[in-house]
Amino acid sequence: MRVVALLMAAGRGERLGGAEPKQFLPLLGRPVLRHAAEALLRDGAVEAIQPICAEAERGRVDSILEGLPALPAVAGGATRQASVLAGLEALAGCAPEIVLVHDAARPVVPAGTVTALLRALERAEGAIPAQPVADTLKRVEDGTVLHTVPREALYRAQTPQGFRFPLLLALHRAAPEGATDDASLLEAAGRPVRLVPGSESNVKITHPGDLERVEADILPRLL
Ligand code: C5P
Repeated sequence: MRVVALLMAAGRGERLGGAEPKQFLPLLGRPVLRHAAEALLRDGAVEAIQPICAEAERGRVDSILEGLPALPAVAGGATRQASVLAGLEALAGCAPEIVLVHDAARPVVPAGTVTALLRALERAEGAIPAQPVADTLKRVEDGTVLHTVPREALYRAQTPQGFRFPLLLALHRAAPEGATDDASLLEAAGRPVRLVPGSESNVKITHPGDLERVEADILPRLL
């Protein structure tokens, strides 16, 4: 296989509150993670999805993804980084050329994003979608503004992020814990990461209200 996507769904989603992790909450009647998987497949380039979830949820995730080209779910770890490593190790046998890493809590991947990542990866080892920061940024200490941070060179990173598989596996095997995304491992190793256009629609369900916003404002425009 050439292109495989890890679908990261082993988080507990504590910031959202409630008993159910956010990736299982219903969006237009179907779990968020099913939307995320279908969105990854939309451009037609991803050959298989490797879901990563809590050990106890493996059967449930497999049935949510039924009918899609998904490999059996594997158990994640205590941190996102440990979960990504578990997913990469599960793929080591089939050794894809490219791996995409996507948060299951992001149900909207606009059409064209995966294609743009793969195009960027023809000439780079890593590529990520990112959005320029629109707000004015302040550095603050004890509730008081210290100064305004120039925002021209600041971007918000999204997923899916794309990498040459052997490089990402080697970096994760060697990495100390603590990275919040995968591109940061390449940055630390001095390997260039290219940007492709991100989208305001590519929301990570994080806070109460995010689901309602995606359901009411974003999905109806895309479907
Ligand atoms: O917590 P956060 O929103 O940063 O999580 C991003 C994604 O990583 C989510 O889709 C979550 O399910 C996943 N994750 C994971 N394993 C963890 C923590 C988070 O797969 N231990």
